[in-house]
Amino acid sequence: MKMKLALAIIVVACFLSSHIEAALEVGFYRDKCPFAEAIIRDEVTKSFLRDRGIAPGIVRLHFHDCFVRGCDGSVLIDSTPTNQAEKEGPPNGNTLQGLEVIDNAKARIEAACKGVVSCADILSYAARDSISLTAGGYWDVPAGRRDGRISKASETLDIPAPSFNLDQITQSFANKGLTQDEMVALSGAHTIGRAHCSSFTNRLYNFNSTTMQDPKLNPYYAQFLKQQCPRDSQGNVDKNLVVFMNQTPFLMESSYYRNLFQNGGLFTSDQALLDSQETAREAASYAGNSLGWRRDFVQAMIKMSQIQVLTGNEGEIRANCRVINP
Ligand code: HEM
Ligand SMILES: *[C@@H]1O[C@H](CO)[C@@H](O)[C@H](O)[C@H]1NC(C)=O
Repeated sequence: MKMKLALAIIVVACFLSSHIEAALEVGFYRDKCPFAEAIIRDEVTKSFLRDRGIAPGIVRLHFHDCFVRGCDGSVLIDSTPTNQAEKEGPPNGNTLQGLEVIDNAKARIEAACKGVVSCADILSYAARDSISLTAGGYWDVPAGRRDGRISKASETLDIPAPSFNLDQITQSFANKGLTQDEMVALSGAHTIGRAHCSSFTNRLYNFNSTTMQDPKLNPYYAQFLKQQCPRDSQGNVDKNLVVFMNQTPFLMESSYYRNLFQNGGLFTSDQALLDSQETAREAASYAGNSLGWRRDFVQAMIKMSQIQVLTGNEGEIRANCRVINP
């Protein structure tokens, strides 16, 4: 009798713990909306063939979604007269790309199965497809996220800034349950995509009171960046100017890490990966092992994409990714 009770307790405990860990499920829409994944892949691929910049754009959207209130699609919500949404927050304002791709996928999915697939999941699938299109690897996306009903510009403070040092980026990822190792692997996302000059011109023109140019920035690279981001007669840099962050802006290979060893990290936060022995050792290993990096990157993306997700009856399935359901 005692045996049976103990066994029953173990079974229940296993069920509960597996239930907690596996809040999200691969194949979540297999029966509920069988074509959802295919529709998303189709929309991402079509847009990518027109403008490859949407792939990095969508990957960043997912990161910014997950770091603010968890991966709940809150970054997709538009501001209203009474609410400044995340899109207006300092890290996002006028720099997000790929939002229309999510809208188009959502519209087709709603037509096929109304009110079933969350915007948060669409974004997570689309980020996976974007990484896959840029040869960064592939994974099965655990799904079942629900959409949040809150989006506040002020909460984008949770997103790390390009001026951060190693302790600050490490802390920012730790706040979201990610390790420093995962932070190093995820930072390699900066292999693809672009940055506005404003994200790094302090390193070129006004570093601190004793030196104008960041001594940790390769002087040849600095010269190139100054050409791309020139100052006008007032000393201002056009806020619309952008540069690619890497020599292969649409291909996920590990040149990002190799560049760091030439002082070629674009942001202070990129170059900071060499500021501890442990992170520098990881960066060196990724620099020489693109495959190993992509493997770790994918694992870290799977973890990042599950930060503080809403599941079950929490939140809602938004009808329009830009608008909280009435
Ligand atoms: C370590 C902390 C991080 C900082 C400080 C940071 C900061 C930035 C900044 C300032 C930009 C340029 C945005 C612009 O000016 O248009 C950028 C771009 C980008 N970031 Fe990060 N980021 C970080 C981590 C990540 C992570 C974890 C990912 C994804 C896994 C990511 C993916 C991207 C991508 C793909 C772009 C290019 C976006 C585009 O081309 O539209 N970043 N990041
Ligand atoms: C400016 O930066 C340089 C290089 O990092 C550093 O050596 C110097 O102490 C800094 N000066 C001030 C006033 O912070």
